[in-house]
Amino acid sequence: MSTAGIATLQDEVWALARERDAVILAHNYQVPEVQDVADFVGDSLGLSREAAAAEAGSIVFCGVHFMAETAKILSPEKTVLIPDLDAGCSLAASITAEQLRDWKREHPGAVVVSYVNTTAEVKAESDYCCTSGNAKAVVEAIPADREILFLPDMFLGIWLERVTGRKLTIWLGECHVHAGIRPEDIERWQRDAPDAELLVHPECGCASQCMAFANGRTHILSTEGMVNFAKGSSKSRFLVATETGILHRLNKEAPGKRFEAVSERAICKYMKMITLEKLRDSLRDRKHEVVVEPEIAERARGAIERMVAIG
Ligand code: 13P
Ligand code: SF4
Repeated sequence: MSTAGIATLQDEVWALARERDAVILAHNYQVPEVQDVADFVGDSLGLSREAAAAEAGSIVFCGVHFMAETAKILSPEKTVLIPDLDAGCSLAASITAEQLRDWKREHPGAVVVSYVNTTAEVKAESDYCCTSGNAKAVVEAIPADREILFLPDMFLGIWLERVTGRKLTIWLGECHVHAGIRPEDIERWQRDAPDAELLVHPECGCASQCMAFANGRTHILSTEGMVNFAKGSSKSRFLVATETGILHRLNKEAPGKRFEAVSERAICKYMKMITLEKLRDSLRDRKHEVVVEPEIAERARGAIERMVAIG
């Protein structure tokens, strides 16, 4: 679409949002033209906090389905819309509530910590939720003598074991986008850009993280953590190991610095299902409404509220 076409559509979106008393929330992995039209752009934790605090009558969530569900659970009286109902998450799909119930039966008395990338039904079976932005603080808040079942991302779980010194029982799920960032990608960049800081999302594969731990210019961060780090750093070059959508925000908020994706293939097709046209249609036609069964929402809310409160 031409720049003028994008601008016209963005004006239409803003006008509709005002007319419909809607706030637009967008994840850091959204396409640039959607990020630019949003009232708030952030990571999972920041977006959950914004959803809980939102004053508008409705929320349009430009992200994936579990994020919109989390917003609905935190703001049950609001209408929550997602521009494309098929915007799922392969990591969230890696465990069902039934599988979690079986796992809990095998580990009686264990505390269940679920990454926010899970369905509402899985959250309803959990004691705590966390995001990459506060997972360490959540684990540290749990008494040291309790067993912790951590799900569903194994690489985030392994990283948490390292940074907290706690042994966790970990579900073997992964995000195909982050798992697809290969050790060779990291090695190549470490070799070719010795002056750059390396920003790595904790969902990235274990091998790349292990290598990454071996030097001081590597930083394991949530997407929001990456933006804050880059803004505050005196360094001018950064390699980024996460979904490439984050580059737009990094370039916008830390202008004059150089950001490069470790892997250009790190694209989440689910995040990219949300387009400016679908956002406009969502506001105009009030679709697609995100519904969470009240009984599930009630049981999931405690774990999510603990997440929002910690870290
Ligand atoms: P953040 O919580 O860091 O935004 O990550 C969410 C996500 O889906 C990562 O793939
Ligand atoms: Fe899910 Fe991975 Fe996409 Fe994040 S990047 S939404 S974890 S599939």
